[in-house]
Amino acid sequence: MLSLQLEGRTVVVTGAGQGQGAAETRLLAEAGALVIATDLAAEMPADLALPPASAGALLYRQLDVSNASHWAGLADWIRSEGRQVDGLVNNAGITQRSRLLDVLVADLQRVYEVNVAGALLGIQALTPLMASGSAIVNVGSVAGLTAHYPVAYTASKWALRGLSQVAAMELGPRGIRVNTVHPGFIETPMTASAKPEFKHATLAETPLGRTGSVEEVAGVVLFLLSPLSSYVTGAEIPVDGGQSGHGGAKSVSDAMR
Ligand SMILES: NC(=O)c1ccc[n+]([C@@H]2O[C@H](COP(=O)([O-])OP(=O)(O)OC[C@H]3O[C@@H](n4cnc5c(N)ncnc54)[C@H](O)[C@@H]3O)[C@@H](O)[C@H]2O)c1
Repeated sequence: MLSLQLEGRTVVVTGAGQGQGAAETRLLAEAGALVIATDLAAEMPADLALPPASAGALLYRQLDVSNASHWAGLADWIRSEGRQVDGLVNNAGITQRSRLLDVLVADLQRVYEVNVAGALLGIQALTPLMASGSAIVNVGSVAGLTAHYPVAYTASKWALRGLSQVAAMELGPRGIRVNTVHPGFIETPMTASAKPEFKHATLAETPLGRTGSVEEVAGVVLFLLSPLSSYVTGAEIPVDGGQSGHGGAKSVSDAMR
């Protein structure tokens, strides 16, 4: 029977300490998965406490996604525990808000190390532990679908789309699915650090007229890890209240009312 339930499945989530990663961890555990939640901190962040009724379980490991030896250590540990990996959520990401004429190559490199190389290293380290039926979800952004102004971040999310498509093509024959979600403005510590003008301007471009919640992203991630999406790979799903779908036509439509 097709189901959203993930009982008996092991899922690794990166950047799980707060924001979307924490919500994904909680929802996946509620759906019955054993979630290996990872983030930069040595100790498990408080946000990760599971609701008492969770069917699944949670283990926490320190992992910097840009560090290949951290990934090797995680894979070795999972192997030594006698587990395989059924799901990977490449959620960890950083932003950098310099504009085109100010951004430094060093800024670009740092954002790429986390947002692009981090996902690549995760796929390289964990796919040897994945059997047919496993799934990977990469967390992109509407920035990767548009000309969003913070150029290093935007370029990194466009690059992540390319990585995702190659991974879907290469891993498909092994029965491993790879999909991407593209969040719009989601209320997290990342967006809390942006200027209020950013929120107001984004809302004006968002047909649903509101920001998104971390749970609304986590639900789509759960779907993409579950057997309900068993024939979906290489897909990109905006979770953005319609922001990217109108291709810039909303301000024209609004002006013509
Ligand atoms: N919040 C939004 O509106 C939004 C929109 C589009 C895309 N996204 C993407 O969603 C993902 C999650 O964003 P968020 O808003 O929850 O961000 P956040 O900043 O609230 O949380 C990100 C988490 O990633 C961790 N992290 C950062 N660098 C890391 C590294 N090198 N290794 C491991 N972990 C690291 C942080 O410690 C933090 O816990 C990111 O990929 C982000 O680019 C967010």
